[in-house]
Amino acid sequence: MKKAIIIGATSGLGRDAAARLVADGWAVGIAGRRSEALESFRLEYPSATIYTATMDVTREDSIPALDTLINQLGTPDLLFYVSGVGQQNPELDIDKEITMVKTNCEGMVRIVDYFVNYVRQHKESYKQKAQVAVITSVAGVFAMGSAPAYAASKRMQSTYLSALAQLSRMEDIPVCFTDIRPGFVDTAILNPDKHYPVVMSRETAANHIMKAIKQRRRVYTFDWRFRALCFVGRFIPRFIWERLTCIKN
Ligand SMILES: NC(=O)c1ccc[n+]([C@@H]2O[C@H](COP(=O)([O-])OP(=O)(O)OC[C@H]3O[C@@H](n4cnc5c(N)ncnc54)[C@H](OP(=O)(O)O)[C@@H]3O)[C@@H](O)[C@H]2O)c1
Repeated sequence: MKKAIIIGATSGLGRDAAARLVADGWAVGIAGRRSEALESFRLEYPSATIYTATMDVTREDSIPALDTLINQLGTPDLLFYVSGVGQQNPELDIDKEITMVKTNCEGMVRIVDYFVNYVRQHKESYKQKAQVAVITSVAGVFAMGSAPAYAASKRMQSTYLSALAQLSRMEDIPVCFTDIRPGFVDTAILNPDKHYPVVMSRETAANHIMKAIKQRRRVYTFDWRFRALCFVGRFIPRFIWERLTCIKN
């Protein structure tokens, strides 16, 4: 039985991915701040092996909670970091900006580094490489004036994963990395009062996420429209990009 830990499984993409993994016969450890959501997930799948941990990734005590999940599951094959906060913030409300940085960057570093070091210390238990997957975003490819901390925190996540991929080779740590970059998906993170172009359903997004994880893709952007956008975006010179005041999303 394969084993996965999903951090940020109380709603949206993380919950959907946890449900898909359970349906595929995986044992899972699920985490997030809302304990009632974790418990309702567990009750929904009474015959599955599911452990839960109430955890705030911005707090240091998330590590003992993660450690307990790891011990309950035993040598997890997959650590999936989904937790994230995203808001437009053109008024530069400091609390909002800092919350995004703490959840998306500090939280990811805390959780992912702990797991990579766990794998490093338990090399002999891994016949196949462990996998770390993180939901970053297409937003990390572009500097977005209406969401500075969100875009920058997502760019940081992608760069960090790339650095860890190199480090794991340098240090011979049996772990691979998957950077999953969605465009817009119909979850609670989107502002219901705003219009977003090309919003994907949660079901379709879950299909993409499972494909990225199962195929152990290094970087996976979905869908093709966002892949095309990212490709074109690479050729837009910075002095033009910074004058595109029509970019509101
Ligand atoms: N939906 C999109 O259009 C889209 C596009 C690109 C990328 N993403 C990324 O996808 C990820 C999941 O977002 P979603 O769309 O599924 O939205 P969501 O339903 O709001 O899910 C966010 C998840 O993050 C968890 N979380 C937030 N703060 C946390 C904290 N301090 N500690 C632990 N967990 C925390 C939440 O759990 P609790 O509240 O229970 O803690 C929840 O499970 C995020 O990283 C987001 O940036 C989403």
